[in-house]
Amino acid sequence: MPQTTFPTLSGEPPIVIAHRGASGVLPEHTIAAYARAIEMGADYIEPDLVITKDGHLVARHDRHLSKTTNVSTHPEFADRKRSDANHDGEDWFVEDFTLAEIKTLRAMQPRPGRSTEFDGLYEIPTFVEILELVVTRSKETGRRVGIYPETKQPSAFAAAGLRHDEVMLTALSEAGFNGENDPVFIQSFELFNLKRLNDVTDIRLVYLTERIPKMPSFELAKIVDGIGPYKKLLLDDDGQDTGFVKAVHDVGLAVHPWTFRDDALDPAFPDIDTEIKAYYALGVDGVFSDFPDTALRARDSFKDLK
Ligand code: G3P
Ligand code: CA
Repeated sequence: MPQTTFPTLSGEPPIVIAHRGASGVLPEHTIAAYARAIEMGADYIEPDLVITKDGHLVARHDRHLSKTTNVSTHPEFADRKRSDANHDGEDWFVEDFTLAEIKTLRAMQPRPGRSTEFDGLYEIPTFVEILELVVTRSKETGRRVGIYPETKQPSAFAAAGLRHDEVMLTALSEAGFNGENDPVFIQSFELFNLKRLNDVTDIRLVYLTERIPKMPSFELAKIVDGIGPYKKLLLDDDGQDTGFVKAVHDVGLAVHPWTFRDDALDPAFPDIDTEIKAYYALGVDGVFSDFPDTALRARDSFKDLK
């Protein structure tokens, strides 16, 4: 990497987080997609965590399963389709399935325009299996790979009597991820969940948000270590700095925006490298990307644009 100054909180280069694995090229949240991201050199891999009926954490972006699995082709599960207070229309929900049942499903490509050639090939991985991959590949390569789990819809799972926290923290601890010096962040859109986690773990926490948070940054800083904002909160439609990064950095919080996609370029930019570098120039401390190789390439060729 060229000698250049990154205006991050630490002065270190921003981390590249493989969003749902290398999900731009392989079905998201599969061992294959996470392994590809690690091969690409991603610093962290990002599983979204949901919970089965028997309390196992598995990686899916949503509680509902029709979008990213072949559940609709399983006649034995036809009668599990139902409506839900937190979801539009009927679907199949992960908390109605045991892990053994989830393991009979296969992952599907949810995003239009991406390759479907791997549909039906890969199992839904457990969090434990993902951590085993991280630990194994870290040993093999001599490069410690980080993990960046998201607790998905914790309040909806709590209503079903299921909780992420204890199972997740135990699995992390058994894989050697215990505290603020380990390469691990836990993220959530639900602040109540982060408050509870902050009481029981030293692992760094990140508050995800689509909007400017109602709670002032100095108050958030008592609970979390960083904010994971929708990227357009940082640069407006004309690509101009909104001041978000500075305001958040001023209270000591890191900023990890989402999501950078080669195949969903922000029209304010001529190409994806220019888009990502504009965020690096702002001083973001990490980026979530479906194409981690692209974010790494942009980081390698970054020149201080200030
Ligand atoms: O976790 C960062 C980003 O993934 C948040 O959005 O909906 O893709 O999980 P989502
Ligand atoms: Ca996520």
